[in-house]
Amino acid sequence: MGERGKRGLMISKLDIRECRPRDVTEIEQLYVDVFPDEDLVPLVRKLLGLRQSVISLVGSLDNIIVGHIGFTFCHVEGGKSKVALLGPLAVTPTLHKQRIGSTLVQTGFKHLENSKICYVLVLGDPAYYSRFGFKAEDKVVTPYPLPAEWRGAWQSIKLCDVETSLEGKLSVPGPWRQISLWTT
Ligand SMILES: CC(C)(COP(=O)(O)OP(=O)(O)OC[C@H]1O[C@@H](n2cnc3c(N)ncnc32)[C@H](O)[C@@H]1OP(=O)(O)O)[C@@H](O)C(=O)NCCC(=O)NCCS
Repeated sequence: MGERGKRGLMISKLDIRECRPRDVTEIEQLYVDVFPDEDLVPLVRKLLGLRQSVISLVGSLDNIIVGHIGFTFCHVEGGKSKVALLGPLAVTPTLHKQRIGSTLVQTGFKHLENSKICYVLVLGDPAYYSRFGFKAEDKVVTPYPLPAEWRGAWQSIKLCDVETSLEGKLSVPGPWRQISLWTT
């Protein structure tokens, strides 16, 4: 079977679902494996504890978690619309480039649209996020100033019609209020 066939088989076996309390240890280990030099576990643990204001999805193969994505509900100061902050996102290193990350992002978008959240922000590599339609964001401002070299990494995508144009500072819940998450 060719590479493309193998990828198709893998993705057809991928089960994406909302995470459950008993997944926490496995999800934390995923972040240790994917980001050995950054301690994202405290952020992940706190986000998973927020429940109502986070969409947290896992991708699993044969009941083993191989990917995770989180979306945190936030708002832009002075505005009423709810927006979502994408992150973190991680896929088991040995399974990269098999569309697991893309499937998690796109499934997450469907959950957001069902929750009537139409605007998603992300601080990430534009080379990756542009494939979903993310574009540089210049009206909604990050909670902390970004280093100059990260400016292009602050991006957004509109999933459906947002009535008013969003402008102002992004107000994030506690787990995201750590300057170290927004600077080098
Ligand atoms: C980024 C990440 C989640 C992507 O997951 P994945 O399952 O490998 O992604 P996909 O297979 O859906 O990737 C789709 C495409 O994006 C490309 N891609 C992946 N990471 C990329 C990156 N950082 N920059 C540019 N392109 C990237 C892949 O090559 C693939 O290209 P193709 O469609 O031409 O084959 C995964 O590589 C990962 O966990 N990386 C480490 C953690 C990380 O960087 N998280 C994101 C923080 S912002």
